[in-house]
Amino acid sequence: MSENLRAKTIPSDWYIDEEILKIEKKNIFLKSWQLFGSTDQVPDKGDYKIKSINGQPLILIKNKNDSLNVFYNVCQHRGCVMIEGDGNANNIKCGYHGWVYDLDGNLRNARGFDKQTIKNKNLKLKSVDHYVWMNQIFVKLQKHANDIKKSLIKIEDIIYPMRFDHYSYHSRSTYKINCNWKVYMDNYLEGFHIPIVHPKLNNIINYKSYKTETFDDFSLQWCHINSKSSPYKKTDVLAKVYYFTLFPNILLNIAPGRLQTNIIEPINATSCNVHFDYYFESIKPNKIIQDVNFSEQVQNEDINICERIQKGLESNGFDYGVFSEKYETGVSHFQSYIEKKVNNG
Ligand code: FES
Ligand SMILES: [Fe+2]
Repeated sequence: MSENLRAKTIPSDWYIDEEILKIEKKNIFLKSWQLFGSTDQVPDKGDYKIKSINGQPLILIKNKNDSLNVFYNVCQHRGCVMIEGDGNANNIKCGYHGWVYDLDGNLRNARGFDKQTIKNKNLKLKSVDHYVWMNQIFVKLQKHANDIKKSLIKIEDIIYPMRFDHYSYHSRSTYKINCNWKVYMDNYLEGFHIPIVHPKLNNIINYKSYKTETFDDFSLQWCHINSKSSPYKKTDVLAKVYYFTLFPNILLNIAPGRLQTNIIEPINATSCNVHFDYYFESIKPNKIIQDVNFSEQVQNEDINICERIQKGLESNGFDYGVFSEKYETGVSHFQSYIEKKVNNG
């Protein structure tokens, strides 16, 4: 599904104003599925992994039956964040007064409390809905969230027969960038700048084949790559890379033999964190180093440009911009989504 190109960009103050960020957090981030990580990050019974998503402390646990649980990492005694690192255990013990929960979140030992009284209160860790797609774990922090399953099913169709269930998690790189989170998104959503900002990437891709397609809650950019010179797994000459944007802040960068997920988290109105998680089909150290180094180079080029954009947006020299019909439909599509959510919830 495509849509009409916007006449102009959203206003520059939307990239500076803390009030807009507050509305975005309430209307967009809390109402969207978020990416936690992958199932192979908790391979064994009792493995647990903690993360803060949208400022919410969460814990992912593999229970005794090999199922996954996601809870708020918050104790039901007096509300302390229970655990501060990843690990493996038979139960979860709060680091404040030592209450103990089993791997399914049931309170098992309430130190200092009468057993029967506490049993009657039926206390349990608050659980968080999750959904596993090709080993990627998505979490939902509010009841009324977007329909990510519909988008993921569509993506599965688009990339068929490719799947990443068997890919292994490799590593995470985190970048703190001095720009509004939407500057990073806007920049990601067009390949227009590639020949100017990323000369090396431009040599690997077939720029002429670059296409953007927009859907309800996500968009896709894809192009053919030169399999010989790319750092990715060698495939046929028509090999493709896919860049998916799942609104609001999840990016899936899919190249032959490799998945790289990006999560963009606002810190405040003028800075954000970007997490890159790397997954590979097979672990050949040389290839991986080449891929990671190449991604870092492209990322540094993007960071430089995003921080320059932020300075321009904060200046008195710019109010609104305009979109190219040929190259910037993805950015326009994203900004219409943002505008609708900010104005209407
Ligand atoms: S807050 Fe966890 S045991 Fe007291
Ligand atoms: Fe870029």
